[in-house]
Amino acid sequence: MCGIVGYLGEKEAFPIIIKGLQRLEYRGYDSSGVAILGGASGLQHHRKKGKVEALLTEVGENPPSGHLGIGHTRWATHGAPNDVNAHPHLSGDGQLALIHNGIIENYHALKETLTERGHEFYSDTDTEVLVHLIEEVLKSSEDLDLFEATRIALNEVVGAYAIAVIDIARPEELILARKSSPLVIGIGEGEYFVASDATPIVEYTKNVVYLEDEEVARVSLTSGMKIRTIRNHKVTPVITELEMALESIEKGGYEHFMLKEIHEQPRSIQDCLRGRLSLGHNTVRMAGIDDHEPMWKDAKRLIIVACGTSWHAGLIAEYMFEDFARIPVEVEYASEFRYRNPVIGEGDILIAISQSGETADTLAAIRMAKERGAHVFGICNVVGSSISRESHSGAYTHAGPEIGVASTKAFTAQLTVLTLVAMRVGELRNALDSQRRNRLMVELESIPEKIQSMLDQDQKLASIAKVYMSAPNALFLGRGFNFPVALEGALKLKEISYIHAEGYPAAEMKHGPIALIDENMPVFIVATQDAHYEKVLSNIQEVKARGGKIIAVVTKGDKEVARIADHTIEVHPSDDALVPILSTIPFQLLSYHIAVMLDRNVDQPRNLAKSVTVE
Ligand code: AGP
Ligand code: GLU
Repeated sequence: MCGIVGYLGEKEAFPIIIKGLQRLEYRGYDSSGVAILGGASGLQHHRKKGKVEALLTEVGENPPSGHLGIGHTRWATHGAPNDVNAHPHLSGDGQLALIHNGIIENYHALKETLTERGHEFYSDTDTEVLVHLIEEVLKSSEDLDLFEATRIALNEVVGAYAIAVIDIARPEELILARKSSPLVIGIGEGEYFVASDATPIVEYTKNVVYLEDEEVARVSLTSGMKIRTIRNHKVTPVITELEMALESIEKGGYEHFMLKEIHEQPRSIQDCLRGRLSLGHNTVRMAGIDDHEPMWKDAKRLIIVACGTSWHAGLIAEYMFEDFARIPVEVEYASEFRYRNPVIGEGDILIAISQSGETADTLAAIRMAKERGAHVFGICNVVGSSISRESHSGAYTHAGPEIGVASTKAFTAQLTVLTLVAMRVGELRNALDSQRRNRLMVELESIPEKIQSMLDQDQKLASIAKVYMSAPNALFLGRGFNFPVALEGALKLKEISYIHAEGYPAAEMKHGPIALIDENMPVFIVATQDAHYEKVLSNIQEVKARGGKIIAVVTKGDKEVARIADHTIEVHPSDDALVPILSTIPFQLLSYHIAVMLDRNVDQPRNLAKSVTVE
């Protein structure tokens, strides 16, 4: 979670590290800190609870100076978010400084052993134990350098880590390692950058090396880059070129990243469709599927694993795979799936959906499915992410960097890719006739334009938001393809406005949630003209009869719902399977406006992290 930044080179490290930490702020954090190594000034170490701004205030007029440095934004797992627990942490002798993302699961046992050997700890973190462990190994033999000592120490660690370590005695080198938490090394001209993702690096260099699990790296101004596994096998670094553009990680005139990303959806969906629709041949081109055609034709079952918003995309995909491809589908929370003893094996295809491609539970589910012989198909947004690298095949969503913690454009891009996959698999299995295929393709092409006209209703949505901004609770309802849209609408609202919201299949309301309805309860409902339209109308009547307020997403031109609802928001008609891509947009905008009106931190809501790399 949170962020790591490091710099080694000829420039001043501090401004580069601070800018990098600010670029990583979107990942969510509660405190930050830096350690800069500079000639005569030695190790300059600052840590502060709160935002990077608070750290800058703490540092004051005389920023630390030096050409080697590490910086961290912490998302507390062990110990309260305060100044003392903030990273970097120092070894007992103050020689080493270390930053860490992840969790050292056996920290307690390590701490006890180290305490017996005389180590004293000032923080409650698991991280401090790790820097003492490295110190202990380093001091155990004069033949060991920091790289070796770190490598050896990591063999004793159970858990997840991305770390960067510096040593006062070695101002020309930076040691890095990772397991389950991402780490990217940028290679410039006579300088190195390190970060938990590429956003802080892209403005300096496009050449990066992604560290793999259990790899330890040394970058040195004198001897270059060296990588070994923690079991001491040599690894040859593979340099990859970043495709990210700097503008894509800046706000471009919008007040928040979330708003920018909502408005980017016509383009991100176009990017996602690019080169994949072949109307002339009435087919979809998906290399990740075409390369494994027989497997998809014969697959016994699909198991979709994901978390949060990506799980909602998976739920919609279940309806699509059943409808288009007539194949049994299960959709699982990755965190539940990995800790059961699921029946999965050869002939099953596991589809893992993840915007970040780093979600720890989803990654663990993938590894389990692979061990049991299933084929893993990854759907990720972040190119080069762990899940994309560990999947057997897959498809990128191509939505561009999503910085706002609340997922918006990545969700609609996931739905788009999943539609394409379900269509292609339906075609391969002779379950989707050519007419419907053609209709879906034509409809898909028109989605960006239809989204644009939804975005043009922004002012109307802002005025509805004003009416309900003070509601303590909200209910979201939908049926069929739009049931998961209701779940996603509720998640968006609670994530960024902190209003309690529940999502339900509309028909389930009478089995419990109906008890909550009174004149103070806004009910957001998708009531588009699809197979469930009449039923949803009855559900709306049930709410109205109990005094609830109805905000309905309806098909353009609908008069029926407008007569009963308090507010209606129109979406263009489309194929039932594609309506979720449209019906989710008003919920994104409503949540956004409510959160802004409540003065919430829209892009970095409290307690949340963008990339959940701990389980
Ligand atoms: C989305 O708004 C959330 N912040 C969260 O539920 C997210 O979708 C979840 O953590 C999964 O992330 P992933 O797609 O990167 O795996
Ligand atoms: N587990 C460490 C801590 O609580 C690191 C958390 C993080 O990833 O920021 O300090």
